Amino acid sequence: MKLLVTGAAGSIGSVLSRGLPALGHELRGLDLIPQADHNFTLGWLSGDCLDPAVADEAVAGVDAVVHLAGTPHEDSLPAALESHVHTTARLLEAMLTHRVSRMVYASSNHAVGRTPRSELLTTDVRPRPDTFYGVAKVSAEALLSLYADRYDLDITAARIGTFGGAPTTARSLSTWLSPDDAVRMVDAAVRSRQPGLHTIYGVSANTRGWWDLEPGRAIGYDPLDDAETHGGRVPNRDEDRAEAAYVGGPDATHLKPRPAF
Ligand SMILES: NC(=O)c1ccc[n+]([C@@H]2O[C@H](COP(=O)([O-])OP(=O)(O)OC[C@H]3O[C@@H](n4cnc5c(N)ncnc54)[C@H](O)[C@@H]3O)[C@@H](O)[C@H]2O)c1
Repeated sequence: MKLLVTGAAGSIGSVLSRGLPALGHELRGLDLIPQADHNFTLGWLSGDCLDPAVADEAVAGVDAVVHLAGTPHEDSLPAALESHVHTTARLLEAMLTHRVSRMVYASSNHAVGRTPRSELLTTDVRPRPDTFYGVAKVSAEALLSLYADRYDLDITAARIGTFGGAPTTARSLSTWLSPDDAVRMVDAAVRSRQPGLHTIYGVSANTRGWWDLEPGRAIGYDPLDDAETHGGRVPNRDEDRAEAAYVGGPDATHLKPRPAF
């Protein structure tokens, strides 16, 4: 499939740019910064998703949009909304213009970060953000729901846990999303033919995981990696118990300084 990857120079985008072509996809990259590698056979755009001309050029002619662009941590509320909600709106509008009906969105566990740990975290828990970043992800998911319902778009909102080469904390033994599973997840989501909005947890098949993997499996995402294979290298820390209390870990637990409005 022809895919636009936004935020393509970032940590997840770089991994997808290597993994998705191997599965038969052709990629176009969009990022604020110059091209990071040579896997973008459909070209590279250096620009801001917020710019309607950039969004328009980026979306034209693709089969699906993989929207990763955004600041992946806490920010002021206006900045967080711009980074996650406004960019998503720009791309959705461009998708309507160019009749592109499929998007995979990088949402976050912080959309439900203040949810206390339970036996199994399902995807139908109420929105419960732990930060302005989480508020922006909840808002972006609401926007995706509106467009999916109103315009018959097929969208996967993946609430990603902790992406990285390996888990580094006790919490991430539960929340880790491996690079290979990230590629499997996006591949499954763009190929899924199930209509409407699907919310899934973007995590690997971690032995210590407590987030429901079934909604992902229902769209064809079958994670294969397990953080436990790295378990022996993860140090014990005093914060581990507190970080396990809420879905959002340290962001939900500590009284972080609130960014100025
Ligand atoms: N990394 C994680 O563990 C994790 C967890 C949950 C959710 N996410 C989400 O996944 C997405 C990607 O995360 P990442 O870790 O790769 O982040 P990253 O910071 O490594 O990459 C994000 C990229 O987006 C680009 N970007 C930002 N704003 C842009 C804009 N307006 N227009 C064009 N490009 C823009 C940046 O230049 C950067 O290269 C983010 O939306 C983040 O919120 C990540």
